[in-house]
Amino acid sequence: MTNLRGKRVILGVTGGIACYKSADLASKLAQQGAQVDVILTSAAEQFITPTCFSAVTGRQTWTDRDMYAPDVTGAFPHIALARAADVVIIAPITANTLAKLANGLADNLLTTTVLATRAPLILAPAMETHMWEHPATQANVQTLRARGAHVVGPELGHLASGATGIGRMAEPTTLLEAIRYVLGQNGPLRGYKVLITAGATREPIDPVRFITNPSSGKMGVALAAAARDAGATTVLVHGPINVPVPYGVRTVPVTTAQEMLDAVLAEVEDTDVFIAAAAVADFRPTRQAAQKLKKDVVGPTWTLTLERTPDILGTVGHLRQEGHRPYVVVGFAAETQNLIAAAQEKLTRKGLDLIVANDITAPDAGFAVDTNRVTVIEREGTITPWPTLPKDVVAERLMVQIIDRLRKMGILKAESDDTLTSE
Ligand code: PMT
Repeated sequence: MTNLRGKRVILGVTGGIACYKSADLASKLAQQGAQVDVILTSAAEQFITPTCFSAVTGRQTWTDRDMYAPDVTGAFPHIALARAADVVIIAPITANTLAKLANGLADNLLTTTVLATRAPLILAPAMETHMWEHPATQANVQTLRARGAHVVGPELGHLASGATGIGRMAEPTTLLEAIRYVLGQNGPLRGYKVLITAGATREPIDPVRFITNPSSGKMGVALAAAARDAGATTVLVHGPINVPVPYGVRTVPVTTAQEMLDAVLAEVEDTDVFIAAAAVADFRPTRQAAQKLKKDVVGPTWTLTLERTPDILGTVGHLRQEGHRPYVVVGFAAETQNLIAAAQEKLTRKGLDLIVANDITAPDAGFAVDTNRVTVIEREGTITPWPTLPKDVVAERLMVQIIDRLRKMGILKAESDDTLTSE
């Protein structure tokens, strides 16, 4: 369902114990519809077998023994693989292979393929800390970065030697995200900026108590991943959330509704699309106690006076009505009754193009769950109920709809390369 579907991914694997995680990465790529061509160096074969990768990819795994065997067209594997690739990732990449690539060496199937391809290159180093920190390795990494390679990790943590330090390969989920980000660079929203709000806000009562709601941030984070996959420069302004933020997305963490408004206004001027998925607290205490309120001082009952928080989406919608950016403004509506009428009223009052209405009483929709059941209402009056779908699919469908709208407005060119599809 993601921009990985149908893409040719070359996964190079070099000799390090992190190889065991590469099999998981290959499996995850295949599950998302990519055609994965794994190339093992002979050192990698000391750690893991070609059979392991073929079992998860359903395809031939390439080794140095295949290097001089042309296919039916007469093309040698490194040329055929290099031409077909949409992206190349080497995970793990050793200090040795980093050095080879930095110097343009081509002495095995993997390095010849990398030299022969025009596809973007992602490198996930894994090695002992001293090897990583060695000036020679750092200089090689600099050289490769300067040539456009995306270097992901290494991370801090437990190393095979038993030591703790920098040198662990980035996790397969992070690498999968990095591949999606890189593939998205040629997507239809390349050169456009999408600003998204996510999660709940917290409105403090005193230093330890606050008003909030159960938003996890899942819906907003899924939207950020979909915008990134479509090539957008993506900014996520989020309250406290309990899901990882997608690779390649710039994040602005905030706590209160006022902070969220300030962060949005600081970003909105050059924004093309604004999507408000955050569950912003509608009310906040009129004053915040400087010290923790004592139960025996406030007494057995206690009245808290609340005031309205700023309406972030309404502010952006009205800015647009006055002729400012963004071009497209999308809201969500979390409702417990009169779903369509309440959402339509918000669409009009806040000056939106689209509103995504959530019936948050349904167990498979709304706060914290992985799915959502929404009805999409357009300014022009179209009302389309969608079935219950995973939140990432809701996000991808919505992005397709937003891209269509930008095209109809003449903002996006019709001939853009669509790498994002939905079904
Ligand atoms: O984060 P999850 O756990 O994945 O849950 C997803 C979600 C239920 C939070 C999400 O799908 C959703 O419905 N978000 C909007 C929740 C909400 O606050 O709805 P509302 O009807 O109260 O607000 C309408 C719109 O105005 C929303 O786009 C909201 O972001 C925005 N708003 C509201 C109040 C305010 N002060 N400022 C705002 O910008």
